[in-house]
Amino acid sequence: MTTTSTEGAPLIYRKDLGKTLAESTWNIPNTNADGLPAIAPSEEQKYLFDNQGWIIIPGVLDADDTAEMREFCYRLKQEPNSIPAIDRSPIGGPLQKLCDHPLILGFMNEFVSHPPYASPECYGFRMESTHLDIRDKGAGGFGPHNGSGMMRLPGDTHLYNCYPGKAHSGLTCIVWELNPVEVGDGGTLFVSGSHKSTFSAPASLQQPDSPLWQTYACPAGSLLIFSEATTHSGTPWTNQSRERVPIFSRYNSICSKWHRWEPHPELLASMPPKRQTLFRPVYCEGNVI
Ligand SMILES: [Fe+2]
Repeated sequence: MTTTSTEGAPLIYRKDLGKTLAESTWNIPNTNADGLPAIAPSEEQKYLFDNQGWIIIPGVLDADDTAEMREFCYRLKQEPNSIPAIDRSPIGGPLQKLCDHPLILGFMNEFVSHPPYASPECYGFRMESTHLDIRDKGAGGFGPHNGSGMMRLPGDTHLYNCYPGKAHSGLTCIVWELNPVEVGDGGTLFVSGSHKSTFSAPASLQQPDSPLWQTYACPAGSLLIFSEATTHSGTPWTNQSRERVPIFSRYNSICSKWHRWEPHPELLASMPPKRQTLFRPVYCEGNVI
């Protein structure tokens, strides 16, 4: 038996006897619950995410969708009782289709899914939490956390693993930015590469203006994706004329869950069957639909 990766094919060991998991046997879903084809990350996006621990994909949503979703977010914050209880969350109403947006499916297929736990009708990953955090001037605080994702014991899902030709992000955060973010406004800060760091973070990281921190600018309707293993921090929102309107959602392996959150049961029951698999119970044995 050969155990070397050929021509860039990922080298992944199966559960039993040191046998490898050939890519040709994978049966991952290539369409989402709305029948839209998955959009796999480009070679550059894959490389950059693995290299930095985060990427920004600008301008994913069109202006009409962004406006409708932002308006729904403000209703959630300001007049929640105007929304039926089952839709009163960041996966309700027009936001539901973001759960398995084609870019989310493509990214999770690559970095989070475990292929044996997927089928064309069943996602190989879970969505485990979501929250809306609209910030006006002064809201949000600086608090560096996480890092060193390759040093985590199983059980601490803030992990990041690399194998020849394949990388795995454990707990993974996506942020839908529904308003523009300029550098200096107060978007999320990252220390690129810290998801693989061996050494303890230097004291200088405690300064928000340390050159070790990186961030992004993006138009409304953009998608930020980061491994929770990457050292990151909030920072106070500074823009007086425009609030930050981010939806933070977490995804994970089907065998691991960090957050104490569940979707509204009636909303879950009303979803298309494939989308429901995002929220299936957290275990492996026989857990493929
Ligand atoms: Fe965080």
